[in-house]
Amino acid sequence: MSRMIKIFDTTLRDGEQAPGCSMNLQEKVEVAKRLELLGVDVMEAGFPAASPGDLAAVKAVSAVVRNSAVAGLCRALDKDIDAGWEALSGAVRPRIHTFIATSAIHMEHKLKMSPDQVMERAVAAVKYAKKVCEDVEFSAEDASRSDPAFLCRIFEAVINAGATVVNIPDTVGYAMPDEFGRLVRAVIEGTPNIHRALVSVHCHNDLGLGVANTLAAAAAGAGQLECTINGLGERAGNASLEEIVMGLRTRRDLLDLDCGIDTTQIYNTSRLVSQVTGVKVQVNKAVVGENAFAHEAGIHQHGMMANRETYEIMTPESIGLPTNRMVLGKHSGRHAFEDRLKDLGFALDAKEVDEAFAEFKTLADKKKTVSDRDIEALVRGAAVAVPETYRLDRWVVNSGSSLTATSTIRLIRKDGAVLEKVAIGDGPIDAAFKAIDAVIGREVELEDFELGSVTAGEDAQGEAIVKIMRDGRRWNGRGLSTDIIEATIKAYVAAINAMEWELAATESPAATESPAATEGAAHA
Ligand code: KIV
Ligand code: ZN
Repeated sequence: MSRMIKIFDTTLRDGEQAPGCSMNLQEKVEVAKRLELLGVDVMEAGFPAASPGDLAAVKAVSAVVRNSAVAGLCRALDKDIDAGWEALSGAVRPRIHTFIATSAIHMEHKLKMSPDQVMERAVAAVKYAKKVCEDVEFSAEDASRSDPAFLCRIFEAVINAGATVVNIPDTVGYAMPDEFGRLVRAVIEGTPNIHRALVSVHCHNDLGLGVANTLAAAAAGAGQLECTINGLGERAGNASLEEIVMGLRTRRDLLDLDCGIDTTQIYNTSRLVSQVTGVKVQVNKAVVGENAFAHEAGIHQHGMMANRETYEIMTPESIGLPTNRMVLGKHSGRHAFEDRLKDLGFALDAKEVDEAFAEFKTLADKKKTVSDRDIEALVRGAAVAVPETYRLDRWVVNSGSSLTATSTIRLIRKDGAVLEKVAIGDGPIDAAFKAIDAVIGREVELEDFELGSVTAGEDAQGEAIVKIMRDGRRWNGRGLSTDIIEATIKAYVAAINAMEWELAATESPAATESPAATEGAAHA
């Protein structure tokens, strides 16, 4: 039987901390539920000491996840570990993940500590964490640029202190696959008590080698692979979960390794993460890109018709890509719609199906045909929507080449107040956003705005993604409509709702009592 490898997902921590990838608490919980369905062994839910919002999110994820272990990242500091445990203690299988850098360049210039001091701090942190949590992971940050002999010594010491997992990160994506495989082997051979811990790797993608290095490490004996959905993460990202897993599955003949992931959940998880972060998946991305299973060239299509295996090394069904392209329209009934939802991997309760069906009918009145993509867009949007502080009631925008753009927006606040404002702006979108700002009475900064379409065709739904910022914090909103101005206004209102909801939650006394709230740790 193939050796089983554990999959540690860090989309909610390393992925989320990348610029433009932030998620609100509700979105993190939805992603966590999806990761559990996917079957990850461990999910890292955040960095609790970084902010009260991070702490609250790790706590919320810990409360809903039942099967996967939930990890929280902590620097090798007592106060970080206290915040970590506060966030994780409600989890069924909590894991404290503590780290400190071990490379000469990091120790000398960043930490200003000697190797002996780093060793002492690492051991103390693991012992401190172990007092409250049985499962403790220790990471040697920048391990791939560290002295292998020092790595073995520090791993031996932290395992003696109680670490259950030792992680070898290629923090800056510097390693080459052969070299990284050799490092993993050297650690396994050179750390006398290594059999008492699981060896993990965590690779970044700065040279595009994150997945290659991870697979080389697995072949060399690593037992846990750290990765993110869609390869999100700092800079060029982390090794992508879907590529690692499909690499293990597709080349089991060569590697003789396997993992517990339900690959048919890959596509849905990738779409959800793309939607909540507002980060699109590149069309030619391996496994989950739009073109990953598209065969355009005539000669390829001919081969495929004769035998799919001529050009297909894995099937779209194996990653849960919907292949039923039959379209629904305004005459389709609730049963057909519900069946399609099931085919697409959504498990909704009766009330949610009713709501989605009502939205489907509204859309089907505007569009001739409603595709799987349209349905996914409707349902995924509803799953991560936060309670509305403001609801868009109506809007008017006037613009043209010879007049100043003006907009009137009417929003209904959750207490029932009807709020309407008029604004002028530099174009229709600017005028609409300014009118909304006037209604809510808060200043927000527009960080990014993207407009696309859910499907092709003249009556396609427009999909707008708006990212806003206030006091250094970011929120995303998404809007769908067959009218692109309406899609954009809806996206802006959705981002405002995400902001209002999170501000209200983090300004509540429960969230501000945490030590992290007063000590303000920085992100790793
Ligand atoms: O890249 C890295 O080194 C990390 C560690 C904190 C595991 O993310
Ligand atoms: Zn990392």
